[in-house]
Amino acid sequence: MRQFVKTPECRDEIIKLQRTAFSGLERAPDGIIHDIYGQPETQVYVARGQTVGMEIPPLMGYALVTKKLNVGFDDEPYIWSIAVREESRKQGVGGYLLDEIACTAREEAYAGTILICKADNDAAISVYKKHGYEVVRTLKRYYLTGDGLLMRRKV
Ligand SMILES: CC(C)(COP(=O)(O)OP(=O)(O)OC[C@H]1O[C@@H](n2cnc3c(N)ncnc32)[C@H](O)[C@@H]1OP(=O)(O)O)[C@@H](O)C(=O)NCCC(=O)NCCS
Repeated sequence: MRQFVKTPECRDEIIKLQRTAFSGLERAPDGIIHDIYGQPETQVYVARGQTVGMEIPPLMGYALVTKKLNVGFDDEPYIWSIAVREESRKQGVGGYLLDEIACTAREEAYAGTILICKADNDAAISVYKKHGYEVVRTLKRYYLTGDGLLMRRKV
């Protein structure tokens, strides 16, 4: 479900999920996620499991969308972070979040959305390509451990 209401509980769930979802991958420190989450312009997308009773269903995946400067397409929504809980992968959750982001961007009259992905993150690149993202250019040594790919989807 799309969600733009930010709560400290949701922020903490995202930080926790990010810690495990990026295991073995380069990830942002908790404090930076905390700051990005708190910025008024940051949009938060979450996917949750089925509601059982009164419990809030567990977070399956999230995306944080901001604006990225200095890479071109400067005013387009930028997917700052996206991740899906390991047990919930390959069930369309990541693709669902990407489509929701594109839908909002279209509603807000943007021409596209952008993201930067590590050039060797095959799983993520595959999902992005399936959902309309194309490589714009390689950003040499963008990450501590390698190159990044600037990708864009027209919406
Ligand atoms: C990238 C990520 C968000 C995708 O989420 P997801 O919910 O699994 O994505 P979807 O279910 O919508 O898409 C599944 C597709 O992923 C691709 N995929 C998944 N794992 C893959 C792998 N190990 N190698 C290649 N492709 C893979 C396939 O194209 C698959 O399509 P299929 O089901 O038709 O085979 C998730 O893998 C993740 O959280 N990874 C760790 C964090 C991360 O890398 N974030 C992105 C940083 S740029």
